[in-house]
Amino acid sequence: MSAVADSRRVAYDTIRAVHESDAYANLLLPTLIGRAGLATADAALATELTYGTLRRQGTYDAVIAIAADRDVAEIDPAVLDALRLGVHQLLSTRVASHAAVNESVELARSAGSRGAAGFTNAVLRRVSRDTPGDWMTRIAAGARSDDEKLGLLFSHPVWVVRAFRRALAAEGRADELEALLTADNAAPRVTMVALPGIAEVPEDARRTPFSPFGFRLSGGDPEAVIRGSEGRTRVQDEGSQLAALALSRALPVRPGERWLDLCAGPGGKTALLAAEALAHGATLEANEISPSRAGLVRRALEGVPLEVPVSEEDGRERAGEAPDTYDRILVDAPCTGLGALRRRPEARWRKSPGDVPELTELQRDLLNAAVGALRPGGVVAYVTCSPHLAETAGVVAEVRREWGAALEELSARDVLIAISDADPDLPVPNDGSGRAQLWPHRHNTDAMSISLLRRV
Ligand SMILES: C[S@@+](CC[C@H](N)C(=O)[O-])C[C@H]1O[C@@H](n2cnc3c(N)ncnc32)[C@H](O)[C@@H]1O
Repeated sequence: MSAVADSRRVAYDTIRAVHESDAYANLLLPTLIGRAGLATADAALATELTYGTLRRQGTYDAVIAIAADRDVAEIDPAVLDALRLGVHQLLSTRVASHAAVNESVELARSAGSRGAAGFTNAVLRRVSRDTPGDWMTRIAAGARSDDEKLGLLFSHPVWVVRAFRRALAAEGRADELEALLTADNAAPRVTMVALPGIAEVPEDARRTPFSPFGFRLSGGDPEAVIRGSEGRTRVQDEGSQLAALALSRALPVRPGERWLDLCAGPGGKTALLAAEALAHGATLEANEISPSRAGLVRRALEGVPLEVPVSEEDGRERAGEAPDTYDRILVDAPCTGLGALRRRPEARWRKSPGDVPELTELQRDLLNAAVGALRPGGVVAYVTCSPHLAETAGVVAEVRREWGAALEELSARDVLIAISDADPDLPVPNDGSGRAQLWPHRHNTDAMSISLLRRV
């Protein structure tokens, strides 16, 4: 097999595993690339094919349904994945049509179902006859609403399009919806952090605009930089950096303060908080319900010379057992993750609106427990990697109602503006709260929501 065919096979096997056994593409792909012995350029091709196909699956399925003249649910799943990979190459890459069609036909044939090769050949030839623009016009014509049309054209489930529209409208920026959907379909540049006080931003790196500790490499291998720094420099989205810094920098730190990271796994923000605690004479504890993720938190802390005990409890109980104890608590809550879709190509297809009520109940309980564990004057940062208003403003409003005058909201926007090296252009949400919402299309970060609440 040629190296390019190997790349396609690796992409196909990854996509199959994502659909068949709920694999995560970002975890499985490097293993399959290593096993196939792909060189750098072929590994990059396999990555582009995998991520591109999974991200744009909604669009491609609409194209396949028209070209095959049947609902995609009626197509053998193994053949459907070969078709998706073929359509991706035909509509979104410069791969020659005959190569895209022939290789997909081979993949479908190897999947074994009778007639698969002929069917795949016929469908892909039909797709290849028209331009990508023609296909977009055709699938848009079948949409019953504007949101459904955007969902088909930008490959997002309609409920996610609606949630994004509402979240942007809450800042008076509903007109940015297409820019956001476009940003979700592009691979993010690797962003790194140099832990404050114990690592330096490399001189030849480009600094990120908002976090004073963030940077992007101009070239070279991030892994080499991480190894060379003994874990004090690491990969971290700039939004995640800002979320941790919003807590550590919300108010001046008094020496001896006690900090808690309540939902810490896998520990990216814990490490940054640990460096901040070390620099300001505070102590830090971490908690994570999943033992394996708690292990990742311990590993993430290896490079920081601060003793950070890591417990493995349900955060609601962990905080409930420690009333009036902590000066700062990070609640980086489990959430739908709709703010990190560009990073996890299959994630948008795995969540459903039915997940939201259960998550918001857990988020509210975790935040309530955290507020109870604050000393008077203490601050909690409530963070989600989702802009969904139910998970962000909704949870905060409910908890504020429960605590009444005993809880005040600080302006996370003002804190982030003070931290940032450049103006992050954070509009005041139209509920008048101090919540800060970052966006992939505007800040080039994950869509993190950050609220700061102070017990009075
Ligand atoms: C958004 S992630 C945290 C990311 C982390 N702060 C970081 O920056 O690396 C949420 C975490 O909460 C954990 N979690 C879920 N339910 C929990 C609970 N009831 N108590 C504590 N942690 C929980 C999940 O296992 C997950 O690791």
